[in-house]
Amino acid sequence: MLFSTEPKTSLSELFDREVEIERLRNGLNERLVLVLGIRRVGKSSLVLSVLNSLGIDYVFIDVRKLYDNVSRKVPAERIYNELRSSLSRLSFWERIKGVINEIDVSLGPIRFRLGTSRIRDGIARILEAINDVGRHVVLVFDEAQYLRYSTIGLRPLLAYTYDYLRNVTLVLTGSEVGLLHDFLGLNDPSSELYGRYYFVIELRPFDRERSIEFLRRGFKELGINVDDRVIERAVDELGGIAGWLVYFGRLYPPEKGEDAINEVKEIGANLVRTELEELFSRSQYYRYIMERLPCSVGLGGATS
Ligand SMILES: Nc1ncnc2c1ncn2[C@@H]1O[C@H](COP(=O)(O)OP(=O)(O)O)[C@@H](O)[C@H]1O
Ligand SMILES: [Mg+2]
Repeated sequence: MLFSTEPKTSLSELFDREVEIERLRNGLNERLVLVLGIRRVGKSSLVLSVLNSLGIDYVFIDVRKLYDNVSRKVPAERIYNELRSSLSRLSFWERIKGVINEIDVSLGPIRFRLGTSRIRDGIARILEAINDVGRHVVLVFDEAQYLRYSTIGLRPLLAYTYDYLRNVTLVLTGSEVGLLHDFLGLNDPSSELYGRYYFVIELRPFDRERSIEFLRRGFKELGINVDDRVIERAVDELGGIAGWLVYFGRLYPPEKGEDAINEVKEIGANLVRTELEELFSRSQYYRYIMERLPCSVGLGGATS
């Protein structure tokens, strides 16, 4: 369903994005791919749909999910556990099961109390085991800028994967592009990843015409008849971010008519506010920057 709020997972569900699909397919032959774009523009959807369409093995880790609001960190053991639990989905799981169990045993049942360097070692050994099978595997860190809050330095691990684990392609998505670049330090001589070639796919919001088509198609699928004027106004006010169009599509009960547009803006504004609060909680510096921006973030003036 076009108006489903989860990321799409197959190309048949994906609207438009032919160019980006092709680019991502090509990018998977490289060592490192960055998929960049603001929140809800469709990064996760693109990555998941393309990977599923190719039928190749991949591990998908949503780093935002691992962030701990209390410690304001991404605890190392969460990364280990997430990686570990996604392995059974790999087509060659049976072949690496033995090695992985050995790694588990060597870390012991209380691995959350282990020194972080041992957890990093455990993660490295899992990645080596995956690589050694000899099949191409894609390792996705979704919203990878959150890796900067990890309790272990993950950058050396990514650099190691880049340089030595030739069967593993790294795909990192990021909506806070500056933070992602800071974390990776691809242009920073002091970074382990300095100077590495990377392939970028930038996802932009849909243009007006496509956004209108998106809403029309979604409503048609639901069998709801919506006046073109409402659709056009919604697009003019909400812009072409797929996630907002989906919210509008979901919230639009015909009896509410154009009021639904305001409702979506209201919800959107609240979401943006919540997300900003979360950002501020991580960094006062962020607040400082945001307060000095000439315009509010997203959805026109709705956030101010
Ligand atoms: N190309 C697309 N076609 C259909 N739906 C999309 C598309 N891109 C994004 N969406 C929808 O928009 C919302 C946000 O997409 P998502 O992939 O989670 O964005 P991001 O990962 O950039 O935050 C989801 O409801 C998703 O289903
Ligand atoms: Mg996402």
